[in-house]
Amino acid sequence: PTIFVITPTYARLVQKAELTRLSLTFLHVPQLHWIVVEDSPRRTPLVTNFLMKSGLTYTHLYVPTAKERKLQEGDPSWLKPRGVEQRNEGLRWLREDRRAQPGEDGQQGVVYFADDDNTYSPQLFEEMRSTQRVSVWPVGLVGGMKFESPVVEGGKVVRFHTGWRPSRPFPMDMAGFAVSLKLVLTNPDACFDGEAPMGFLESSLLKGLVTVDELEPKADNCTKVLVWHTRTEKPKMKREEALQVQGLGSDPAVEV
Ligand code: UGA
Ligand code: MN
Repeated sequence: PTIFVITPTYARLVQKAELTRLSLTFLHVPQLHWIVVEDSPRRTPLVTNFLMKSGLTYTHLYVPTAKERKLQEGDPSWLKPRGVEQRNEGLRWLREDRRAQPGEDGQQGVVYFADDDNTYSPQLFEEMRSTQRVSVWPVGLVGGMKFESPVVEGGKVVRFHTGWRPSRPFPMDMAGFAVSLKLVLTNPDACFDGEAPMGFLESSLLKGLVTVDELEPKADNCTKVLVWHTRTEKPKMKREEALQVQGLGSDPAVEV
């Protein structure tokens, strides 16, 4: 089955570097369809050209985050959930596109939500390819922990190893699960809730789709870390700004 990877992305200095890093991983994965959703009122030239040259199978979408939902300069990053409308737009596109591909084959597939700044092992995608409903695995370097993970006993998820609010319905990061396309199609209203309180975004989708008891543990019964919640440092522009004042800033015609 094809793996449909939905990635929200937004314009910033490190965007092209992040997308480059991601695309190099995805080039190692057979049957991957990348659904890139820009947080923007239109497709940007940077992402358009990047995708064209990427060598990947992709769909390029866009939807701007509503102004009142968008983080403002200086807001702490956890204040509002990010990438919500973009992931929902990816789901909307998938549901519509699959209606045009009737039959068993059009319904086969796996949906994964890959943020543009995380680090993914190609092996992760082979683990999720056999997803029947919802599969799960550990995520490294997340939630102030070395890793967070479902805890597996007798082949079933019995609880979660997490440092924070284990009482959440699904106390997992976005990077820690994949959903079968069939489940997405048979639950046409399942989506992410932008109003979900901090840490409940993942649960807002999953609680409409599965129970903890039904989760399918992957990565050797959740004992292997194959994805890392890395975060990229914001580059400092002190020198750039000083040079700009003297009219000596970097050539704006050069795409970074
Ligand atoms: C954590 C989780 O790993 C995310 O999946 C979750 O969406 C997020 O928290 C949240 O609470 O909303 P974190 O590293 O804090 O992730 O978030 P970012 O990596 O900054 O953003 C997640 C995704 O949304 C990225 O793909 C990013 O490119 C995108 N994004 C971010 C936008 O599309 N627009 C923005 O304004 C900011
Ligand atoms: Mn991130």
